[in-house]
Amino acid sequence: MTPILECIKNKKAGLNPIWIMRQAGRYLPEFREIRAKNTDFIKLCLNENLSSEITLQPLKRFDFDAAIIFSDILMLPYGLKQKVEFKKGMGPLLGDLNIDDVFEYSESEFIDRLQPVYNILKLVRQNKLLRHKNTIGFVGAPWTLLVYMVNKQSPKHNLNHDFFNDKSIIKKILSLLDKFLKIHIENQIKSGAEIIQIFDSWAGLLDEKDYEEYIFKPTFKLTEFTKNLGIPVICFPRGIKNYKIYCEKVKPSVISIDYNVDPNSVIKNIDIPIQGGLNPKFLLGDRETLKKEVLKYLTIFKDHPYIFNLGHGIQPETKIDAVRELVNIVKSF
Ligand code: CP3
Repeated sequence: MTPILECIKNKKAGLNPIWIMRQAGRYLPEFREIRAKNTDFIKLCLNENLSSEITLQPLKRFDFDAAIIFSDILMLPYGLKQKVEFKKGMGPLLGDLNIDDVFEYSESEFIDRLQPVYNILKLVRQNKLLRHKNTIGFVGAPWTLLVYMVNKQSPKHNLNHDFFNDKSIIKKILSLLDKFLKIHIENQIKSGAEIIQIFDSWAGLLDEKDYEEYIFKPTFKLTEFTKNLGIPVICFPRGIKNYKIYCEKVKPSVISIDYNVDPNSVIKNIDIPIQGGLNPKFLLGDRETLKKEVLKYLTIFKDHPYIFNLGHGIQPETKIDAVRELVNIVKSF
């Protein structure tokens, strides 16, 4: 079995497999070169040759234990015919979602639109670089996708305060998301994804009283669905207040923690495998601090099934040498 699956399925400690969020991306010069020639980000995600190459780029440089497919959580609204664009410095910008249209929309139409994503997974899975390593597929959590689909831009810039006014629309979108996220997960698995990660990047925006309705219930439906297909599921509810309750309610196979979480308290409260935690900013600083921080996580989790990762995506300014150093520290622990 691969180190990641040993860790997740057999709960084996001490293996410390490693991959990093956004490992295929802008800190790599070879990615920036492709990106400069491909200004339409969605088109790039649908380009089977380039996207499979980008997925493998980090594995050519570093001894990571998994490849995460180069795609985006916003491919789902794209699959539902909502316009998605990426403007430099603005992040994503979405068009209007025509809900009634989407209710008429068939499963096969959706799959046709996203077929290149599934083909990329098939291409990546066959590559020799992935021998004894895993291929990770992913989706956005219902709440985070709802935020983008309704707010139509990053809530970092502006969260529309009328967001919850029309509950019936929110309900409709959540039920659409449940249907199409399951289709998207199942097709990634059929195409070779051996693990699914669910990104709930905006979980921290909600009040705790709203967790049940917008986070726990809709995300649990997806973890249950994925586990029933025999595939482990990693959840990353960034900024959530209580990871223990999240795990009890959502029942992921692995919980991925953000960098504001105290690893000492999480290990006391949670008995499932844990992933991540390191603040990506330590990859921008001096080597001694990086080493100290990495060793902190490795030491705290040394008797717990632990997958090394960051507490959020790697920053574009990160130097290749810092990533090399990180992998060395983890692999030689
Ligand atoms: O290497 C990998 O991790 C796989 C690829 C991946 C991307 N996006 C590629 C990407 C993954 C797993 C994602 C997930 C994603 N996308 C999330 C969840 C994780 C998180 O960061 O919280 C979210 C919220 C999105 C939506 C999204 N996509 C935003 C907000 C942005 C713009 C902000 C930014 O970082 O520029 C993107 C664009 C995006 N997705 C890029 C990449 C490599 C940058 C594109 C570019 O070159 O400009």
